[in-house]
Amino acid sequence: MASQYPIQIKQTPKFTSIKDWTHSDAYHNSFLIPQDPVLNAALKNSAENGLPEIAVSTAQGKFLHLHAQLIQAKRILEVGRLAGEYSTIWLGHALPGDGELITLEINNKHAKVTEENLSNAGLSSKCKVIVGPGHDSMVSLPSDKKFDLIFINANKPSNLKYFTEAKRLVRKGGIIIVDNIVCFGCVTDPQESDHNIEGVRLLLSGLKGELDWFCLTLAKRASAELLSL
Ligand SMILES: C[S@@+](CC[C@H](N)C(=O)[O-])C[C@H]1O[C@@H](n2cnc3c(N)ncnc32)[C@H](O)[C@@H]1O
Repeated sequence: MASQYPIQIKQTPKFTSIKDWTHSDAYHNSFLIPQDPVLNAALKNSAENGLPEIAVSTAQGKFLHLHAQLIQAKRILEVGRLAGEYSTIWLGHALPGDGELITLEINNKHAKVTEENLSNAGLSSKCKVIVGPGHDSMVSLPSDKKFDLIFINANKPSNLKYFTEAKRLVRKGGIIIVDNIVCFGCVTDPQESDHNIEGVRLLLSGLKGELDWFCLTLAKRASAELLSL
């Protein structure tokens, strides 16, 4: 039987830049993800109030939503919320009427913007915000009320600590997603080092021994990692 490899690629491969990825995302989204006035208003509100543009991308938001739906999540924990303008809304809208989303955020400078964004999205009653260092807040959460999905998107140096707590808090069969762990390819480059990169490397080393976990990295622009039990 003829070998499948090497794969014949008909297109000429081209190196892709952030600009290319952004353009490609926008192109695909224009077919697959209709404009959502609520999400657009939240992004606009956050930008007008000076919040940094560091929310997950549109496709990542939908990806999070899809995972929450697939496992029929009723309780979600988000570490690192910004002003609740993006991942929080995508995740919140995946929940059933009696679902609950707890978000942990260290910086409450933009509490008013968050309130507006979540209220406009109809999520005020489902979404509870705990202000303070994410790890302290996680430690204070009881392990008898498990979460179906935990999304970690805060400071990378604490990723392993967050993962350790997330393991305690997630139900069997649940999902933990950690955002931004490819860091534009820098994590794999031995010449590169800073506290974020080292935080991701620490997480990866910690995960290597976690044989009960089904782990993978999905490379996107900066990327997400998926883990499930
Ligand atoms: C990338 S943003 C989150 C974006 C948000 N998940 C979204 O996609 O819309 C990271 C957030 O983590 C928060 N953060 C940073 N360090 C933190 C810590 N130690 N505990 C909790 N939150 C933290 C920052 O204030 C910021 O709002």
